[in-house]
Amino acid sequence: MPQVIGVPKETAAGEKRVATVPEVVEKLIKLGFSVKVESGAGDPANCSDESYRAAGAQIVEGAAKLWAESDIVFKVCVPTAEEAGLMHEGQTLITFIWPAQNPELMQQLAARKVTVLAIDALPRMLSRAQKMDALTSQAGVAGYRAVIEAANAFGRFFNGQITAAGKVQPAKVFIAGAGVAGLAAIGTAASLGAIVRANDTRAEVADQVVSLGGEFVKVDFEEEGGGGGGYAKVMSEGFQQAQREMYAKQAREVDIIITTALIPGKPAPRLITAEMVKSMKPGSVIVDMAAERGGNCELTEPGKSVVKHGVTIVGYTDLASRLAKQSSTLYATNLFRLTEELCKTKDGVINVNMEDDAIRGLTVVKEGAITWPPPPLKLPAPPAAKPAMPAKAPKHGEASAPASATRTAVMFGIAALAFWFVGANAPAAFLGHFTVFVLAVFVGYMVVWNVTPALHTPLMSVTNAISSIIAIGALVQIAPPIMGGAVARPESWIHWLAWVGIALTAVNMFGGFAVTQRMLEMFRK
Ligand code: NAI
Repeated sequence: MPQVIGVPKETAAGEKRVATVPEVVEKLIKLGFSVKVESGAGDPANCSDESYRAAGAQIVEGAAKLWAESDIVFKVCVPTAEEAGLMHEGQTLITFIWPAQNPELMQQLAARKVTVLAIDALPRMLSRAQKMDALTSQAGVAGYRAVIEAANAFGRFFNGQITAAGKVQPAKVFIAGAGVAGLAAIGTAASLGAIVRANDTRAEVADQVVSLGGEFVKVDFEEEGGGGGGYAKVMSEGFQQAQREMYAKQAREVDIIITTALIPGKPAPRLITAEMVKSMKPGSVIVDMAAERGGNCELTEPGKSVVKHGVTIVGYTDLASRLAKQSSTLYATNLFRLTEELCKTKDGVINVNMEDDAIRGLTVVKEGAITWPPPPLKLPAPPAAKPAMPAKAPKHGEASAPASATRTAVMFGIAALAFWFVGANAPAAFLGHFTVFVLAVFVGYMVVWNVTPALHTPLMSVTNAISSIIAIGALVQIAPPIMGGAVARPESWIHWLAWVGIALTAVNMFGGFAVTQRMLEMFRK
């Protein structure tokens, strides 16, 4: 008997997201489930009852009926005490729970003898878990929306422009914290044409900042900021002092600051002081994404947009919900991927397999027993660092140049000798071809070596196109002798082969350039 997945209307004030969308309903039905949606649940996310019905879902009036008729409930927000009270024995709930912050709710759910999968407790370090990672999908949407909120409150363009009315300088945006939300904000602000700078205590994110079009601004203090698992740690007082100085300088220079700094389980680090806000240009904007955790900015008021010292400080805590259709679609896909993992048999019945690391990690209540926190994950040990090569002391009388330099010199010497031998003994005709061959190898090597590995595929397709230069051989065959063509008569088979050759190389040539063009387009913004 297939199980029923129920999707109630979210009850949290202002919440516009919904736990599944019509596109995903179809996929859930293909997995063997039947789907029931509370009437009006998708309205704020532009998913009408009609669209759910068309996708195969059944529309149910009222939350009580929906909860009563569902075997599995998909939700977005932490359930209220009333919602938890609607659960019945044997039911499964999949939603955000934040078990560490909601111990009373956990007790209440356990007392209902239900199973609860907290999507926020997913072990994110498992690569298999990425497709189910709702924290990432929602933070990405929120980072994007933070930039849009900033653009809305900012009185100027983001991009620089030269207009008949004068030159417009691009906006300068500083992003504090380059985690999921921060990177999404960097990419969005850069694509709008702003000059983007970012800082994070974890130095390893510098490359990602640059690849998204930002500039990584370092704190002038040496300290490793990684606290394990891709998260940050609390930094030393010396580092924090140096960081404050750098942030104060950025605050004076930039137009927009977006703060996303977070250390799990700790209050948000205070990075932007009231003094820094005062030093910003009038009309500047701060979007404090960490508002819910106390804020990265001293003057943030959670849930509100306020103007202080001429600076708009946006402290909205519902940024993902403000792009409800997008965040709901991504969230619904995360839950669908999780359902696939729970229902490998595709028969519409889930199996909460506690032997599976990902499933074990997010199961916080199993049939009435609290199973949170999970045992630590057994991750494969990182590859042991290679022992450092003992430095060889130069022997008496030996040159002190590194061994590799000596080896290179010896190889060059051998190659030069080989070339001299070939030059002295080979016939003249061979030498001509050989010289061209050696030069081609050299040029080819230099071209490939100096191209970023990411561009090797377009490079191959363009060299493929260029290799069609062999068409010249065929052209010589069909050209009349007066134009330097060969003696092949029009009716000879060589003539026709030359035409075939030209046709094929033309495909190669134009196709190669076209494919290269399309690939390069993917790298352009
Ligand atoms: P994340 O953990 O992926 O990123 C946080 C980043 O902050 C990390 O890269 C960390 O190294 C960095 N960081 C920590 N301390 C720092 C410091 N002192 N200086 C500079 N960088 C520091 O977290 P994620 O998912 O990107 O979320 C960021 C924030 O956005 C969180 O506070 C989260 O609660 C919030 N959020 C807010 C939403 C809203 O509607 N306002 C929606 C979604 C997320």
